[in-house]
Parts: sequence; structure tokens; C-alpha cells
Amino acid sequence: MNARLRPAASSESDRPTPRILRMDHVAMVVEDIEAALVFWRDVLGLPLSHVEDVADQEAAVAFLPLDGSEVELAKPTTEGSGIARYLQKRGPGIHHVCFEVDDLEAMLERLKAAGVRLIHEEPVIGTGGKKIAFLHPQSTHGVLVELYQLTPQEAERRRPVARGLVDRARAEGQVMSAAVLGFLRALVHREGDPRADQKDRDRADRKPS
Ligand code: CO
Repeated sequence: MNARLRPAASSESDRPTPRILRMDHVAMVVEDIEAALVFWRDVLGLPLSHVEDVADQEAAVAFLPLDGSEVELAKPTTEGSGIARYLQKRGPGIHHVCFEVDDLEAMLERLKAAGVRLIHEEPVIGTGGKKIAFLHPQSTHGVLVELYQLTPQEAERRRPVARGLVDRARAEGQVMSAAVLGFLRALVHREGDPRADQKDRDRADRKPS
């Protein structure tokens, strides 16, 4: 089933060989985020940073960071998305693994030259402004692989997302755990908006009725 790959030729250009830097995240598809958190957060003990409605993935995603990488729990919010179909077909489980690379374009070129089937031939902008590309499971022994390169623009793009989350949480009057609010508060605070920080503190102090 896996196409035969050609070993990557040594670079003929002056460009340095692109490198894998670290594992960024493992994404799981779940039927119910709260139920999944009972295992991943409460029993296993991974810290939850926040839950985000990720429009471009058509999913609600819980982020559980650990030592520079992350577990993501994604629940489809629409019927027709890739992860919705994955869930219907295979049930909950591991959806993809993501690695950070230092030069995504160069890495895609290298993989293509080696005969790897690419889902994205060029990088696309993913969640939170991340520059990403997916590799086809046909070339990876059945695992959907995401590659990611940190860009200077990523922090810029994340800022409005973080603020939007705090506002939405407030507007919808969601009952959020103190840990989630604490994370959002810290995120906004780092961006230097003390008013938002105070408002969140006020909200966190109020007990849900
Ligand atoms: Co991902």
C-alpha cells in the first residue's frame, strides 16, 4: 500500500537540509470533549490550557500542553468535515501527529523529491496563524502527518483569537473552570491588556448560579 520512497538525495543547492525540530502535538478525535477530559485531564493528569472553537477545523478543540508539546482533543462541530467523517468511519482515536520543522517549503520539496504523497504541496495557514502542511497517510504507513513551521506572524494572529475567546466566554455566560479562565487571563495579560485581565478576575470570582 505504501508507495516506494526514494532516499532523499543530498542537497545540490546551497540551502541547508530542512530539519524536524520537535513533536508539536498529537490530535485525537473525540465524541465528547467533557467526557474525554475525564480521562485525559482528570485521571491521567494532563493540564488543560483551554477549549477553543476552531473554525477552520470545524471542531471544538481542547488543548493539553505538556513540556513543549500538546495533546489536542477535537470534537467535530459540523457533519461534513474531515474529522467528522473520520469519527463516523473509524470512531474516536488518534487523528494526526504534528512535527515542527525549521523550513516547511524546503521540507515539502525534499519529501516530494523522495516520492512522498503530499496533501498540501504548498504550506497553508492553519489554526492560530500556523504555517502547516499535511502528508498523505499512503506515504506514511497509515498515519496522517502534519508539519508546522513557526512564523513571526503567528503570535500576531493568535492575539485576537485569545481576546475573542475571553469575550465569547463572557458573552455566552459559559460555566468555565477556574483553570480555563486563568489560562485565558494569562494569555490576555501577556498581551498587555490589564482591563480584560481585571474583568476576567471579576468573572472568575463570581460563582456560577
Ligand atoms: Co494539528
